[in-house]
Amino acid sequence: MTDSLTIRRPDDWHVHLRDGGMLKDVVNYTARQFGRAIIMPNLTPPVTTVEAGIAYRQRILDAVDPSLDFTPLMTCYLTDSIDADEVARGHGDGVFTACKLYPANATTNSAHGVTDIKNIYPVLEAMQRIGMPLLFHGEVTHKDVDIFDREAVFISDVLEDVVRDFPALKIVFEHITTAEAAAFVAESGPNIAATITPHHLEFNRNAIFQGGIRPHYYCLPIAKREKHRLALRKAATSGSPKFFLGTDTAPHTIEAKQSACGCAGLFNAPHALEAYAKVFDEENALDKLEGFASEFGPRFYGLPLNEGTVTLIRQETAIPETLDVMDTKIVPFHSGSSLPWTFST
Ligand code: DOR
Ligand code: ZN
Repeated sequence: MTDSLTIRRPDDWHVHLRDGGMLKDVVNYTARQFGRAIIMPNLTPPVTTVEAGIAYRQRILDAVDPSLDFTPLMTCYLTDSIDADEVARGHGDGVFTACKLYPANATTNSAHGVTDIKNIYPVLEAMQRIGMPLLFHGEVTHKDVDIFDREAVFISDVLEDVVRDFPALKIVFEHITTAEAAAFVAESGPNIAATITPHHLEFNRNAIFQGGIRPHYYCLPIAKREKHRLALRKAATSGSPKFFLGTDTAPHTIEAKQSACGCAGLFNAPHALEAYAKVFDEENALDKLEGFASEFGPRFYGLPLNEGTVTLIRQETAIPETLDVMDTKIVPFHSGSSLPWTFST
């Protein structure tokens, strides 16, 4: 049995760091474990200009503990009216690593998202030309589509067209939750990849309703049935370079979660790597963790692999019920329970 696992320092390819007091109180959980992170742009207002991207990146760097070596990789939020030249300039200047596409009203702060993919075809054209990745929140938002079907319908209604019309565009299908998405990515060309969260690997939709309504298991895309969780575990641990680590850590205060209309998102940053290690261990695939966590992401993005290592030790980590943020509390993933691995640098 492996009792200690040392891997190249990993990156997190999907993170919500928020802004202001929340940013200051959450950023170091991510910076402690990961060398780099793709930063989601769904602030209010969203990050839609190069200037806003530079300013947000600086606020993040100012909040990072100076003893940690962490690089935020910024993304531009696509809107119906975004200017292709602004996007391309941001990429050329090294500000925007990628663009994030939220279908309008799909999730937190997505009201300015794209209402029809055709509206941004000129931007996708430019991104394809310059090799800038498109990060897709892969759900349709029509009211007549069942919430559990939104990802699968997105593939047939949107993604297939985009892949056909922009065959060389690099696309990351973010936080996939279904067997259909895992199969689509596996069967597509090398320019199509996916991120997978620890929570979608660990629980299915029953967790949201266990003995009552459990807001801390609610996120978007919503967890699906067990067969989908099993398909995700197979994809993540397959050793395929098309699937890599993206936590989608999405902090909300305890009040915002435990409400009559609670926000979507799990705060998994504090022990993200331990959670992934648990899953890979259960699947007898600890030897596949390094590729998933530290190699496939940078290779897809065309970035160098991190130097340095981190170590996971087979030793229980107790997770507190709550953590302090701003003047209130946040409930972390695995709150009040434990994980069988401990992170160490
Ligand atoms: O659960 C989620 N929370 N899904 C998202 O897509 C957005 C995120 C957030 O920003 O809170
Ligand atoms: Zn997200």
